[in-house]
Amino acid sequence: MNAESAPATILGRLNHIGVATPSIVRAIETYRTLLGATVIGAPFDLPAQGVRVCFIDAPNTQIELIEPYDDSSPIAGFLRKNPAGGQHHVCFEVPDIAAAIAELKVNGATVLGEPRIGAHGTPIVFVHPRDMGGVLVELMETPKTGH
Ligand code: CO
Repeated sequence: MNAESAPATILGRLNHIGVATPSIVRAIETYRTLLGATVIGAPFDLPAQGVRVCFIDAPNTQIELIEPYDDSSPIAGFLRKNPAGGQHHVCFEVPDIAAAIAELKVNGATVLGEPRIGAHGTPIVFVHPRDMGGVLVELMETPKTGH
C-alpha cells in the first residue's frame, strides 16, 4: 500500500434506473401488466427538479419513473425528443458524494450542477453523458440506514 488515499469514487450498488415517462399512471400499469411488478411505491413530487417520481422494486434494484410537471424540467426536454418516454439515467451509490465530485473534477469529468437531495433523501449529482460513453450517470450517496 502507498500513502495515497483510496479513490473516493467507488462504484457502488446500482440503486436505480431512471425512466422518463409522459404518464406515471400509465407506466405503472405497463410494469404491472407486462412485467408483473408488484412492489410499487406511491408517486411523490420532487419540487426542486419539477418532476413527480415513483419507484418500482425489482429484486436487485429499482426503476425510477419520472414524469415532469414543469416545462422547465430537464425531463420535459427529454420527452420533447422522446415523446413516448425512455431510459434516462442509471444511478450508482457512492460512499461520499462530496469526495466523489472532487475526484471526478480532478479526473476531468463534467459534474452537472451542485449536489442536491435526491428522491431517496441523500445527496445526488449527475455526470455528463459525454464523459460516460453517452450514458447519463447519477451518483447518489449511500443511505446510512438500509434500503
Ligand atoms: Co434517479
